[in-house]
Amino acid sequence: MRLNTVFLSGFSCMSIGFLSSCRPSVAPDLSEKKTAFVDSVLRTMSLEDKAGEMTQLTLDMVCVGKPFKLEKPHRLDTTKLQKVLVDLKVGSILNCGGHAYSPAQWHEFISGIQSAAAQKTTGIPVLYGIDAIHGATYTSGAVLGPQQIGLAATWDTALVRKFAENAAIEVTASGIPWNFSPVLDVARDARWPRFWETFGEAPKLVSDMGVAMVKGYQEGPAPIAATLKHYVGYSRPLTGKDRTPAWIPERQLRQIFLPPFAAAIDAGAASIMVNSGEVNGIPVHADHHILTDILREDLGFEGMVVTDWEDIKYLFKRHKVAANYKDAIEMAIHAGIDMSMVPGDLKFPGLLMELVREGRISEARIDESVRRILSMKYDLGLFRTGGMPPALADYPAKESLEGTAARAALESITLLKNEGQHAVNEGDPILPIGGKGRILVTGPTANSLNALNGGWTGTWQGRDTTYNTPGRPTAVESMREVFGEDRIAFAGVDMDFTDADVADITRNLNPVTTQCAVVFLGEMPYTEGKGSVEDIELFDNQQNLVKALHGKGIPVIGVYAGGRPRTFSNMEPMLDAFVMAYLPGDYGARAIADVLSGNFNPSGRLPFTWPRYASAHLTYDHKHTENLSAKLDWGDFNPLYTFGSGLSYSNVETTSIALTDSVFQMGDVIDITVSLQNTGTRSTTETVILYSQDRVASITPSVDELKAFKQVVVPAGATIEVNFNVSTEGLGFIGQENTYTVEPGAFGLRVKDQTVDFELIQQSNNNP
Ligand code: BGC
Repeated sequence: MRLNTVFLSGFSCMSIGFLSSCRPSVAPDLSEKKTAFVDSVLRTMSLEDKAGEMTQLTLDMVCVGKPFKLEKPHRLDTTKLQKVLVDLKVGSILNCGGHAYSPAQWHEFISGIQSAAAQKTTGIPVLYGIDAIHGATYTSGAVLGPQQIGLAATWDTALVRKFAENAAIEVTASGIPWNFSPVLDVARDARWPRFWETFGEAPKLVSDMGVAMVKGYQEGPAPIAATLKHYVGYSRPLTGKDRTPAWIPERQLRQIFLPPFAAAIDAGAASIMVNSGEVNGIPVHADHHILTDILREDLGFEGMVVTDWEDIKYLFKRHKVAANYKDAIEMAIHAGIDMSMVPGDLKFPGLLMELVREGRISEARIDESVRRILSMKYDLGLFRTGGMPPALADYPAKESLEGTAARAALESITLLKNEGQHAVNEGDPILPIGGKGRILVTGPTANSLNALNGGWTGTWQGRDTTYNTPGRPTAVESMREVFGEDRIAFAGVDMDFTDADVADITRNLNPVTTQCAVVFLGEMPYTEGKGSVEDIELFDNQQNLVKALHGKGIPVIGVYAGGRPRTFSNMEPMLDAFVMAYLPGDYGARAIADVLSGNFNPSGRLPFTWPRYASAHLTYDHKHTENLSAKLDWGDFNPLYTFGSGLSYSNVETTSIALTDSVFQMGDVIDITVSLQNTGTRSTTETVILYSQDRVASITPSVDELKAFKQVVVPAGATIEVNFNVSTEGLGFIGQENTYTVEPGAFGLRVKDQTVDFELIQQSNNNP
């Protein structure tokens, strides 16, 4: 059967502007019609077609010039298209040729690729994938919001879902149907260079945010397929460096790292990308237990599994568990891989075919993977459109997409310290900045849009200013806009500024006329190995700048633009106020200025624990033994800022937490009422974070487990109640047999400093 006609008619439907009948849903279609269709396509496929379907190459492999050194302007190479898509029948292409393109350029690339693919015997369209991790990051002019760590700080899942829907709209508008997002790695180590790509350290927060993002991508007006990555155990390497070995006992894997993947799989996620690293001595790309026993059997995942970049080859090149490329392919396919992100050579499909012909891989195993790939293409509607995602009939106005990103930036900004040591009236908080005096703005991230956006923005590392969207402001530009040009004195420095620069800044400062200094601290963008560090202490020059300004006797406000908590415990007491901005994106500068000025009452909450010392990073759910000790003089749990921290310009107190009973039976749902009182003068959005505490358990319990959270607005002066329902079945943990278990006994629930105790008993026999 030749399917080109079907595809091409779909294609023309796309090119005349989209008909609503073309709209697919990405949620997997389980109908017999789909199974019959997929089977009918599979029956027409030769082994060569199948091996091609399982191959993914990078865009450079079909462009004019050398891969990763393309000729400019980037353009498709017809000979390579023929070789890759028609002769080798490659089923998927990813990435950009090194930097962002306009939607029109994207259409040119992707329609050229799809037209070439339509020439192969089966005519199966190509599945194009991209990293659009905080908006359509490789589409020029796209709306870029906060990176995931900032999105997590909003604790606003509805907003995150909307933001992901909008990202999908702009990805689709570029002709791309598949996104390598969200990252569901749980950030347990601040040294890890992809900390900022996560939703933080709490499995529950990561799960809820992950589900919101998957639904946003897959169920919005312009659905694209989500990819859960990097499955699993990537975020906790022993050294803290990218792609270095992790040792994670199965109990911890199931307790901490798997739950977000499980939740997002239940939410219908279409695909999963595998962790490039090794866990317990086995590279995950070769680990049948993780990729098949756990993923397929325990978690019930039916979607498609793609490798990360070059990771099959790395089984022999880096990990040394395979003697050569061919053995590595055999190993990975048997472990459970469906598609290989090769992405830069043409050998994969040929070697895969040889393995089948030699009987080392069965054709039935190949069919399993190809069926999953075809199913995904079907769910995305690609067979109807010829490979492009069906676009929207009416694109929402750019302003509405910008509104959501700007809102997310505002909600993410987290006020971590606001003291009165230098306030006009002593004891008053230093923020918001009132008055009329001059404000010194300085620091290496003050005038950099890239510093606000982070990696995977325009380019892989996100550092090249060429791909910034013109007109999007840097922090100092927004400070001028919000406070007025004449109030801002700007002393710009780059990341490598010296003591001489610090001396210049302080020499030129008039402490009488300067109301305060706002110092923009942080890091320049990075991702993956390029962000690995030897030490997470904040750079000396930034700490010296704060100390020198403090020495002038003016209030110093620190604003941190960066994705991981670098330590600065000696400098911190010299900050009168400290604002965590994360990587807030293109609208982040304005959000920061609006928070500093008080135009917006901050509501962000820290989604991780900020360590006080570089070697003392513990998470909120540490064990009791980490708390022992002040008396024994060991360092007890004493972070700089605790998980969930975040102040506002009002004061919301948690006054009580109450239950309907003090004894519950297994299976009951606990009804919890939390009372809040806003004793301040501004209406405030409060995130109520509920923790459970298992008093005694057969596996040492954590001091706290995040169980639920809710956001409410508490008007000035008001007292309100917030209700939670927590199932007793959710009070368990991974027990001695590495299975989930709930043990009866004494429990507590906590919101801030309010706690309540109850007893959990086995169901009584006379229960109906
Ligand atoms: C990264 C992935 C990314 C992939 C494709 C890899 O190097 O680890 O997160 O999705 O490249 O760009």
